[in-house]
Amino acid sequence: MSTTSTTSTAAATVSREIRLAARPVGEPSTRHFDLATVAVPEPGEGQILVRNTWMSVDPYMRGRMDDVPSYIPPFEVGGALDGGAIGEVIASRAASVPVGSTVSHFLGWREHAVLDAAAATVVDTALAPAPAYLGPLGTTGLTAYAALTRTAPVREGDVVFVSAAAGAVGSVAGQVARWLGASRVIGSAGGPRKTAKLLDAFGFDAAVDYRQGGVGEQLAQAAPDGVDVYLDAVGGDHLRAAIQAMRPGGRIAMVGAISGYNATDPVPGPDNLYRAAFREVTLRGMLVTSHFDLFPEWIGTAAGRLADGTLHTEQTVVEGLENAPEAFLAMMRGANTGKMLVRLDGRR
Ligand SMILES: NC(=O)c1ccc[n+]([C@@H]2O[C@H](COP(=O)([O-])OP(=O)(O)OC[C@H]3O[C@@H](n4cnc5c(N)ncnc54)[C@H](OP(=O)(O)O)[C@@H]3O)[C@@H](O)[C@H]2O)c1
Repeated sequence: MSTTSTTSTAAATVSREIRLAARPVGEPSTRHFDLATVAVPEPGEGQILVRNTWMSVDPYMRGRMDDVPSYIPPFEVGGALDGGAIGEVIASRAASVPVGSTVSHFLGWREHAVLDAAAATVVDTALAPAPAYLGPLGTTGLTAYAALTRTAPVREGDVVFVSAAAGAVGSVAGQVARWLGASRVIGSAGGPRKTAKLLDAFGFDAAVDYRQGGVGEQLAQAAPDGVDVYLDAVGGDHLRAAIQAMRPGGRIAMVGAISGYNATDPVPGPDNLYRAAFREVTLRGMLVTSHFDLFPEWIGTAAGRLADGTLHTEQTVVEGLENAPEAFLAMMRGANTGKMLVRLDGRR
């Protein structure tokens, strides 16, 4: 017997999803994605039907397009992609998640999703607008917080360097570093519009424009006495420059290495690692999924700061599921400021 079975009015019968058409070698393009029309699935016992309203595109999705073992399975060629999404529950056979709830879940890249109620998290839209749960109040915000409190903890008076600083994780990280007592916060980004944004909107003290010259030289100028903590989202030239600048006992949180995500040959490591040895620098990797226990603490801090404006965030929004592949590709090229999101009209 069903526990709850409710459906909203004028339920759609067809929906759309984005599938992986082929595995890219090097930089992906729109030809690696397909848009398919499918029947709206029916929820089974204990399941909910969600009309997705927002979905996230994230750098780690590039890795899932390759058929290589990783911490998360690769996308299947011909299958729908997945990832973070927010939506409205339009049919429910689970008493715990009634129709009308706004939920966060992992079946993005489609307009409608059926999933076990246990796999959805009901979000509080009175606390923050729904898309915030894919950005500052979601895993991107938590990545910044966990990286700078656990992986490479910031201490009072530290000099902190953040890469991809105008992006989703980086723009939050610069502000978190300040709350944690950093005396100077330096960010790097690509191009003058973004570096101006670092200084004017995201509260950084100095900016490195990696497209305008060497990261090492610019970082040495911005941090003449060195760096205590580096949040690495980029790898490559940024990691090398940070190692060069680290003070004794410095800490590096390795959250990503986007400069190499489209590489077709093995990416060499930095040639100055010996400096980490004699300066006793810690390089430590992190996965946000290992830090979900911090979510309540993070949301407790960040939601209030979002509401009173002491956490400034931005989002770049692309409209429509059919444009989700281009949103992903544009984010990989740096077209976003803050979190790149796709708004799904969802009214099909
Ligand atoms: N470990 C984890 O659990 C975890 C969780 C979330 C994210 N991450 C990682 O954190 C990083 C940022 O993710 P995000 O979601 O916040 O994305 P994002 O920063 O919002 O978007 C990606 C940004 O990367 C920059 N970029 C692209 N190619 C680059 C290159 N060759 N050199 C320098 N910068 C480049 C672009 O900014 P510019 O215009 O400034 O170049 C682009 O806007 C990624 O490495 C991601 O994989 C890790």
